[in-house]
Amino acid sequence: MSVVPKTGEAHALPTEERRGVYRAIHERRDVRSQFLPDQIPDVALARLLNAAHHAPSVGFMQPWNFIVIHDRGVRAAVRDAFLRERVRAAALYDEPRRSQFLALKLEGILDAPLNLCVTCDPTRGGPHVLGRSAIPDTDVYSTCCAIQNFWLAARAEGIGVGWVSIVQAEELKRILEIPAPIIAVAYLCVGYVSHFSDTPDLERAGWRRRLSLAELVFADRWGRPETKLRAAFAALSGAP
Ligand SMILES: Cc1cc2nc3c(=O)[nH]c(=O)nc-3n(C[C@H](O)[C@H](O)[C@H](O)COP(=O)(O)O)c2cc1C
Repeated sequence: MSVVPKTGEAHALPTEERRGVYRAIHERRDVRSQFLPDQIPDVALARLLNAAHHAPSVGFMQPWNFIVIHDRGVRAAVRDAFLRERVRAAALYDEPRRSQFLALKLEGILDAPLNLCVTCDPTRGGPHVLGRSAIPDTDVYSTCCAIQNFWLAARAEGIGVGWVSIVQAEELKRILEIPAPIIAVAYLCVGYVSHFSDTPDLERAGWRRRLSLAELVFADRWGRPETKLRAAFAALSGAP
């Protein structure tokens, strides 16, 4: 329905609902450590998957599939693949960074009651998907939008999600019997949690800090600082 708004904010959500959206965004965490064993009710999982399925996608391609993984044998195989890749990844760092990397908890594959693999089918929608001609990777971008929807909806439901990318994609595809053209985009650990941390685990571990937003925003051309927004950024509290 097309209605001319009375003011620019006519279609904004009511304040409390807006707060809820921002709260889910700011309090979403990548969770690896604090999973509870409680099973996620089917109706809640269905809501999360439905949130993912309502993500934007290039040409309305909806390239995603979701593999819900309960089987501990499958999960153990993925964890073994993670452990192998972790060793390979550690070798990329010099000391003391290598030891610091190896001390990080970077997955909750067996701790979480549920694992989920989100895939992207680059062939969905045929050879000419509207909007994908110049940037074929927009299929994967769309799948990432679905993953973020799932992640935020999960936070709203009190469910933690951890993304595990320290696994060779080909190994993951073999374990999950994913056919050749399909891309395994994300392997997620999902479950209720004892708590959500205030800050990212990597920040608390001293691995990396949040960058300054003001320094990431440019005006008109690459590299030119957007000074007009500086005061507004400085005044940010997170809530509307
Ligand atoms: C594409 C992607 C891959 C990631 N892979 C891993 C991973 O393999 N292991 C891990 O512990 N966290 C992983 N993360 C989570 C990030 O470390 C985390 O999002 C970041 O440190 C910020 O923390 P936050 O999500 O709690 O805000 C991944 C996140 C993304 C978006």
